[in-house]
Amino acid sequence: MSKNSSVSKAFAAAFVVLTASAIAGIVTMVILYKTQIATMDPTPRPTFPPTTTGLPPVTRLPKNLVPERYKVLLWPRFYSQILEEVNVTSPNQTVLFTGNTTVYFHCVQGTSSIYLHSQNLDVYGPVVASTDTDEGIRVTRMENHHDQTNFLEIELDYALKTGGNYSLFLSFRGEVSGGLEGLYGSSYEEGIPAHEDDTDTDRFLIATSLEPTFARRVFPCFDEPDFKAEFEVTIIHRRITMALANGINTDGTNIIDDDWKSTSFQPTPLMSTYLFAFTVSEFTPTPSSHHRVEINTYARPKATAAGHAKYAADITGRILDYFERRFGIIYPQRKLDQIALPDLISDGMENLGLIMYQEGELLYEEGVSSRLDKENIASLIAHELAHQWFGNLVTMKWWNDIWLNEGFASYMTFYAVDAVEPDFKLKDVHILNNLHSAFEADALASSRPLSRSQGEVQTPSQIMQMFDTITYCKGAAVLVMLADIVDQPVFDKAIGRYLSDWKYKNTDQNILWEYIQKADDESTGERNIAEVMNSWTKQIGYPVITINTTSGEAFQKHFLFNDSAVSSLSWHIPIRAMKYTTLFRLIWLKPGESAMKDEFVATKGEWILANVNCTGYYRVNYNPENWDRLVTQLQKDPRRIPLKNRGQLIDDAFNLARAKLVDVTLALNLTRFIRNETELIPWAATISNLGYFVRMFDRSEVYGPMQMYLRNQVEGLYNSFRNYTDNSTVPTDHASQQIQIKAIDVACSNELPECIEMAQHMYADLMKINSTNIIHPNLRSVIYCHAVAHGGKEEWEFAWGLYLRSSDVSERDRLRQALSCTKKIWLLSRYLDYTLDPELIRLMEVASSISYVSRNVAGQALAWNFIRAHWNYVRYGWRQGDRGSDRQVLHPVRTGRAGAFCDG
Ligand SMILES: *[C@@H]1O[C@H](CO)[C@@H](O)[C@H](O)[C@H]1NC(C)=O
Ligand SMILES: *[C@@H]1O[C@H](CO)[C@@H](O)[C@H](O)[C@H]1NC(C)=O
Ligand SMILES: *[C@@H]1O[C@H](CO)[C@@H](O)[C@H](O)[C@H]1NC(C)=O
Ligand SMILES: *[C@@H]1O[C@H](CO)[C@@H](O)[C@H](O)[C@H]1NC(C)=O
Ligand SMILES: *[C@@H]1O[C@H](CO)[C@@H](O)[C@H](O)[C@H]1NC(C)=O
Ligand SMILES: *[C@@H]1O[C@H](CO)[C@@H](O)[C@H](O)[C@H]1NC(C)=O
Ligand SMILES: *[C@@H]1O[C@H](CO)[C@@H](O)[C@H](O)[C@H]1NC(C)=O
Ligand SMILES: *[C@@H]1O[C@H](CO)[C@@H](O)[C@H](O)[C@H]1NC(C)=O
Ligand SMILES: [Zn+2]
Repeated sequence: MSKNSSVSKAFAAAFVVLTASAIAGIVTMVILYKTQIATMDPTPRPTFPPTTTGLPPVTRLPKNLVPERYKVLLWPRFYSQILEEVNVTSPNQTVLFTGNTTVYFHCVQGTSSIYLHSQNLDVYGPVVASTDTDEGIRVTRMENHHDQTNFLEIELDYALKTGGNYSLFLSFRGEVSGGLEGLYGSSYEEGIPAHEDDTDTDRFLIATSLEPTFARRVFPCFDEPDFKAEFEVTIIHRRITMALANGINTDGTNIIDDDWKSTSFQPTPLMSTYLFAFTVSEFTPTPSSHHRVEINTYARPKATAAGHAKYAADITGRILDYFERRFGIIYPQRKLDQIALPDLISDGMENLGLIMYQEGELLYEEGVSSRLDKENIASLIAHELAHQWFGNLVTMKWWNDIWLNEGFASYMTFYAVDAVEPDFKLKDVHILNNLHSAFEADALASSRPLSRSQGEVQTPSQIMQMFDTITYCKGAAVLVMLADIVDQPVFDKAIGRYLSDWKYKNTDQNILWEYIQKADDESTGERNIAEVMNSWTKQIGYPVITINTTSGEAFQKHFLFNDSAVSSLSWHIPIRAMKYTTLFRLIWLKPGESAMKDEFVATKGEWILANVNCTGYYRVNYNPENWDRLVTQLQKDPRRIPLKNRGQLIDDAFNLARAKLVDVTLALNLTRFIRNETELIPWAATISNLGYFVRMFDRSEVYGPMQMYLRNQVEGLYNSFRNYTDNSTVPTDHASQQIQIKAIDVACSNELPECIEMAQHMYADLMKINSTNIIHPNLRSVIYCHAVAHGGKEEWEFAWGLYLRSSDVSERDRLRQALSCTKKIWLLSRYLDYTLDPELIRLMEVASSISYVSRNVAGQALAWNFIRAHWNYVRYGWRQGDRGSDRQVLHPVRTGRAGAFCDG
C-alpha cells in the first residue's frame, strides 16, 4: 500500500467518529475511494478454460449432400431399478447403448465421399444405396476423424450423381455418459428406504443434452444447424420405463419380450440435429389444458403425486397461447412434453416438443418454495417456449448468429411473463437487469461483437463460447432498442412475417434486418435499418453520449472502463429525450458527428433527461449543471423522473465514475434520494453498484463508512417491513415481496443490529429440537444466509444437516447458498471439499456451489484455487461470463432465464 493509505485512515477515523450523517458518509467514502482506486488493483481475474489453438483448416461439412430424413433406432441397456431380490442374477447397471440409423439424403453435387459427424461412437456396417434405383454402392473405406472435426468419412466405389437420392445405413454402439453431455445417465431416489443402506430406492434414467454439438455422440448425423431434417425415432427400453422423444408416440408401445418393449414416434417436423432429444424414465405426467396441443409435464412420480408440477402445467398452456397470438403462427406440433430432470447442464433446453428443465427450476411446492420461485419458473418456461419459434422453427444458419435464438428468447420472456403473471410487474425490472448485465460485460476492450463472422466460430469449443452474456443479454437489449426505433407494432408485424416466411428454414441477421426495413418503410421509412443495426451487432461495446445542456451540443465516444484505451468506434444512436415535462421525438446522433440540437438546450433550471425509459443501448453523461439539477429533482420529487431512469441514472453515474468520466461524488450524491424510495428498480441499481465498492474495498477503510451510509439509507425501508418479518408473513403484492427481501439483505449485510438480531433469533428457533419452520419461504434464503454469516460452526453444521436431510429442491438450493455465507475460511474450505463427492452435492450443482463461495469475499481466492486444482471434476456447467470484468470470468451455465439469469 502507498503512503496515502495512512492519510486515508486518518480521514476515515475522523469522519466516522465525527458524524454518521449521510453526507459525511459520502464524503468519507469518496476520499477513500480516490486514494484506494489509485493504489489498488481490483480483484484478481482468473481466466480459463485455456483457449485451444491450432485449428484444423476445415471444420464444416461440405454442402454437396443434403440430409432430408433420418430413421433412428436407439437401444439403451440400462436398468431403471436394480432390485436385490431379483433371483438368479443380480444385474449390474450397464452403460451400453446400441442403435442404427438410416439417413436419406439428396446429392446436389456429385462426390464419391460422404462426410458426416460421429463422436465417441463405434460405427460399423455402412450400407449405401440409391433410393431412385435401389442399387447398392460399395463402401471402400470408413474413417472417424478423432480431431475437432469429428468427421465420419465414408469413401465409395464410385461417385454419387448430382440430383440423385440416396440412403446411408449405419449401426453403432456407445456408452451412456457419466457427465452431462450427449446421452447421459442420472439417478434419484424414489420410495422410502427401509433401512439406512437400502439402495432399493435408487432409480435411474437417461436423457440427452445435445446443444450445440453433441448429437454426433448419440448417432452419426450431419450435425450442423442448417442441415434440417425429419427424424423418425424408435426407442427400445425396459418394460417398466417410459420413453419420450421429440415426436408424437405413434401407436403406444410394443412388447418385445419379458424385459423389453419398443416405442415408436411419428416423424418430427424439419428440425436441426441439436434439437433432437429423448428420455427413458419412470416419470409420470401432469397434463395442462390447451384447446389444440396435448401438453404434459413429467416429473418423478412422488413429485407429480404431490402436485409439484402443477404451477408449471398451469402456466405453460397460457404462455403457449400468448406466443401463438403474438406471432400469429401456431405451435407446429400436436404435442408438447416438458420434463423436470434431476440433472441437466443448463436450467432448461428447448428441444422441439420435449423441453427439459432442471427440476429445481421447474417444480413448485406450496408453502416450501418461495413465491419468488414462481417468477423464475415462469421466466424459464417462457424462454424455452419462445425458442419453439425462435430457434426451433426459424433457426440461425450457423452458431455465429446464435443471438437470433437467445436474444429473441430472452426478449420475448419479458413480455410473456408480463402477459401471464401481470401482478409480478417484472417487465421493467427484467429489461433493466438485462441491460445492466450486457453493459457490464461489454465495457471491456476484450468484449466481442454480438454477431461474429462464421470463420471465427468453427470448433466445438469456439461454438460453446458463444453462449455468453453478450449473446443472451446484449442480444435482448438491441432488440429492445430496435423495437423502440421502429415502434412496437411495426416490429411485431415484421417479426410475424419473418417467422412465417422462414419457418423450417435458416436465417442470418441480414434477413431479419430486411423484414424490419420493409415494415418500417411501410410506416415512416427513411432509415437504413441494416446500417443502423450493424453498428450495434458487428462492433464490440457501446457508446456514452455526452450532452451539454448549455450549448445543446452532443457527442459520442466508445464507453470503456479502461480510460486509457483508445477507440474510434461510433454508432447510429437513437435518442429519446425529455426536458422537464416535454417529451421529444426521436433524435439521431450519427457516427463520427457531434450535433447541436435545440432540444438539448436547457434554461432556467430545467433539466434534460436522455434515453427516456432506457430503451437505448448506451450510457449518458451531462454537463455538471444538468447533473446537479437531476440530483436536486430526485431529492425534491423523484417521481418526475421515469422509474427506469431513476435506476439508470444511478447505474450510469457509477459506471461513468469507474471510467473516470465523472466524479464519484456525483454517483454517491445520486443515491441519496433512495432513503425515501420504495420501488425496486432504484434500490436494485444502488445495491449492485455499491456492491462494486464492497468487492473492491472489502476490509479496507472504505468499507466501514459505506456500511454506515447504507445502514442509514435502508433503515426506514427495513423498518417498514418489520411487522411482516416478526409475523413470518409477507406483503401480498409481488413487487413489495421483492423489495422486502432486498431490504433485509441490505440491512443485514450492513450490520443493522435489529436485522441481525432478527435473523439470529429466527434461526435459533429453527435449531431447537422438533421445531417447525415458521420462516416464510420468501425470507428463508436471506435469513439462513445472514444467520450462518454471523454464526459459527454450530450454525453452519446445522444448515449442512438440514441440507442433507431435505428432499425439497428449493430448500436444498437455499441451504447450499447459505452454507457459502459463512465468514470462516475453514468452513468454506470444507464446503468446497464436499463438492467433490457426488453423494453430497450433485455434479450439476457443483458449479453453482463453487460460484456461491466465490461471491463471498472471504471465499473468492479459495474458490478460484479450488477450481484450478480440480478442473477435471468441476468443469461441467460453467460458461464464460463477463469476459474479464472484475466480477468473475466463469459463471455457472444458465441458458434458460431472462433477466435473472444474466446476473449469473
Ligand atoms: C424369479 O423371480 C420371479 C419373480 O420374482 C419368479 O416369477 C421366478 O419364478 C423366479 N425364478 C427363479 C428361478 O426363482
Ligand atoms: C456384477 O459386478 C460384480 C463386480 O463387478 C461381478 O462380480 C458380477 O459378476 C456382476 N454380475 C453380473 C450379473 O454381471
Ligand atoms: C436396427 O437395430 C434393431 C435392434 O437391434 C434391429 O432389430 C434391426 O434389425 C436393425 N436394423 C437393421 C436394418 O439392421
Ligand atoms: C415509459 O414507461 C412507462 C411505464 O413503463 C410508460 O408509462 C411511459 O409511457 C413510457 N414513456 C415513453 C416515452 O415511452
Ligand atoms: C458547455 O457549453 C458551454 C457553452 O458553449 C461551455 O461554456 C461549457 O464549457 C460547456 N460545458 C462542458 C462541460 O463542456
Ligand atoms: C425524504 O422525504 C422527506 C419527506 O417527504 C423529506 O423531508 C426528505 O428530505 C426526503 N429525504 C431525501 C433524502 O430525499
Ligand atoms: C454532492 O453533494 C455535495 C453536498 O450537497 C456537494 O457539495 C457536491 O458538490 C456534490 N457533488 C457533485 C459532483 O454533484
Ligand atoms: C405494524 O403493526 C402495528 C400494530 O400491529 C401497526 O400499528 C402498524 O401500523 C403496522 N405497521 C405497518 C408498516 O404495517
Ligand atoms: Zn435459450
